Amino acid sequence: MLTGKKVFLIIAGGISAYKCLDLIRRLREQGASVRCCLTENAKEFVTPLSVAALSQGPVYTDQFSLKDESEMSHIELSRQSDILVVAPATADVMAKMAAGLADQLATTLLLATDKPVLIAPAMNLRMWLHAATQANLATLKSRGIHVVGPNDGAMACNEFGPGRMAEAPEIMAAIDAVLNPRRPLSGRHIVVTSGPTVEPIDPVRIIANRSSGKQGHAIAAALAALGARVTLVSGPTALPDPEGVDVVRIETAREMLAACQAALPAAAAVCAAAVADWGVKAPAGQKMKKSPGAPPPAIELIPNPDILATLAAPGAARPGLVVGFAAETENLIEHAREKRARKGCDWILANDVSAAAGTFGGETNRVHLITADACEPWPVLDKRAVAQRLADRIAEALS
Ligand code: PMT
Repeated sequence: MLTGKKVFLIIAGGISAYKCLDLIRRLREQGASVRCCLTENAKEFVTPLSVAALSQGPVYTDQFSLKDESEMSHIELSRQSDILVVAPATADVMAKMAAGLADQLATTLLLATDKPVLIAPAMNLRMWLHAATQANLATLKSRGIHVVGPNDGAMACNEFGPGRMAEAPEIMAAIDAVLNPRRPLSGRHIVVTSGPTVEPIDPVRIIANRSSGKQGHAIAAALAALGARVTLVSGPTALPDPEGVDVVRIETAREMLAACQAALPAAAAVCAAAVADWGVKAPAGQKMKKSPGAPPPAIELIPNPDILATLAAPGAARPGLVVGFAAETENLIEHAREKRARKGCDWILANDVSAAAGTFGGETNRVHLITADACEPWPVLDKRAVAQRLADRIAEALS
């Protein structure tokens, strides 16, 4: 249902730009409002006048138009939309999006938006199959950009193959899927741990680690987007709370375990937190003083509880599906398999946390999903895309 939805359509310069006139008409027939922006090249294929007539609104083309700016900031306009649709998405526009260029109004809006973006690629089949375009496509997908098409078929350049822009009904169905997402996890409660735990040495000093919480928070957000009620138990991070998620903030591993247990029962648990394996046996009540010449203090550590193993232990409270992470710097698969068996979880995501991989705190992650009988390598993905894949797999497993 697109009634009342605000679609911002960016038309790029390809032969299939003319199909956008039909798309605008159909969107408006379904009750959506459509605002349009033409790239410089698009004006060679379709006139702003036709687009304005069909969309019944102003058409934006110029990054530095004083008239448009005085009416409404372009950036504000794109932000007030529910979705940005790029159709046709040419090889050139896709490359600019992947590179983060803002060389004209259309690309500036795409870089500045905080709304979902759907692209409908259309180009010559050799351009589509070119390694550069495929790499750009992978980059865009890994950032959560939605893609519809292209289709196979006869092309304007007299060739046959993939590269035809999806038809208007397909683009509308894709818009609908983005704006009215399915909610297969509705009614399910899932506990997710995220971020580091910190262990006090004294009132001012702590033992901590490099986890930013990006991966765990993204998982919580992806599960919530599929309709789950999510309790996110998080150590200290600089991240905002994911939308629609109950967040319980803790510091130590013991507090994290208590919060997880208090959140049960749950259909699933995902332990993405980097939990300190050891805590300080007797944290000092006052700031430890250093005196000149005295040796540094010896700090006695004691093992922390294992949250993943505790949640995965057989019993009435065990969530139906328990998923862990294995952060390894060597022998990734072998160590992760051993960890899955030892901790008793159903799945484990093995990830390389060596300094070269940049996983801790970085934007991307390369994981292997290890189950009792399979090891599935996933490509390097943005952490949100890893979260999306995992959430989809959890939804499948719980259905
Ligand atoms: O937070 P980011 O910067 O985005 O980085 C993501 C990440 C690297 C932290 C994350 O993807 C990850 O790998 N998390 C697990 C880190 C970790 O502690 O791994 P481990 O191999 O030491 O522990 C194995 C599993 O046992 C993990 O699921 C962990 O949450 C759990 N564990 C570990 C120790 C403990 N005392 N209790 C636990 O529950």
